[in-house]
Amino acid sequence: MSGRTVIVTGASSGIGEATARAFGRAGDRVVLAARRVERLQQLAAELPESLVVPADLTRSEDVARVASEALARYGRIDVLVNNAGLGKYDWLERLPEEDIRAEIAVNLIAPILLTRAVLPAMLAQRRGVVINIGSVAGKIATPTMSIYNATKFGLDGFSEALRREVGPQGVHVCVIYPGPVAGTEFGAKTAKGAGLTAAGSRWRRLPGLRTSTDRVARAIVDLADRPRPGRVVPGVYGVGIAINALLPSLVDLLISRVARRARDVPAATD
Ligand SMILES: NC(=O)c1ccc[n+]([C@@H]2O[C@H](COP(=O)([O-])OP(=O)(O)OC[C@H]3O[C@@H](n4cnc5c(N)ncnc54)[C@H](OP(=O)(O)O)[C@@H]3O)[C@@H](O)[C@H]2O)c1
Repeated sequence: MSGRTVIVTGASSGIGEATARAFGRAGDRVVLAARRVERLQQLAAELPESLVVPADLTRSEDVARVASEALARYGRIDVLVNNAGLGKYDWLERLPEEDIRAEIAVNLIAPILLTRAVLPAMLAQRRGVVINIGSVAGKIATPTMSIYNATKFGLDGFSEALRREVGPQGVHVCVIYPGPVAGTEFGAKTAKGAGLTAAGSRWRRLPGLRTSTDRVARAIVDLADRPRPGRVVPGVYGVGIAINALLPSLVDLLISRVARRARDVPAATD
């Protein structure tokens, strides 16, 4: 498919940047939203007919402007990719309140508000696709990731409800659940305050458990072409998600043992 108007938030790096390129290559017009304007402008230079909308998505007025500028320029919105996000991992009692609020604002409130802003256009068109970037961490919760888990589980519940709410009107709501992704800035911004995170990053390096921004971007474009409720990338994480759903007490036991040991590990510096 081509010729669609697609909004991608967090298009200045990582998954968002790769996704914007993938839609651009498919012949779609891409609205690029994030705070780092120069990065967006560089990307826009590669993507004909794209539009840069500088936006701090913690600000309601910026969220509204992303939708209104897209509509003013193109007159329609076919696909919304709610991708911008961040994760600050640490034991809950060590997380500053402002970090908690900022993470919830970007990962959960902004996607809800931006979806609400584009929905009238999609409902009037009687078609549209909203793709929310969740995470395997939106299906399996682990110590030191409680706020990130809360935002991604929240996004998942929001998506399920909205899919049932607007599906009958021709608007699809999808979630993609990536495992760890190489080539993003995500890890560098993630506070690694706990030994558990260091332990986790060891197994995430195992072959097959990490994916690439291009692979996630292709999966997102594929969802826009053929909407489905959800997709896990790489698919192997589907096994862990199923085990966590079917045997939560066993997973509690295993993860709690690791968490107890990690409490004794001094804070990591990298
Ligand atoms: N990397 C992974 O391993 C992984 C795994 C599963 C899910 N995810 C999810 O994938 C999504 C993209 O993350 P990524 O891995 O590509 O990380 P990334 O390279 O750090 O990209 C994050 C993007 O979010 C934008 N952003 C952050 N705060 C913002 C704000 N206040 N206003 C507007 N934009 C903001 C950033 O742009 P500016 O800084 O320019 O504003 C950036 O473009 C996130 O939702 C993340 O939770 C990532």
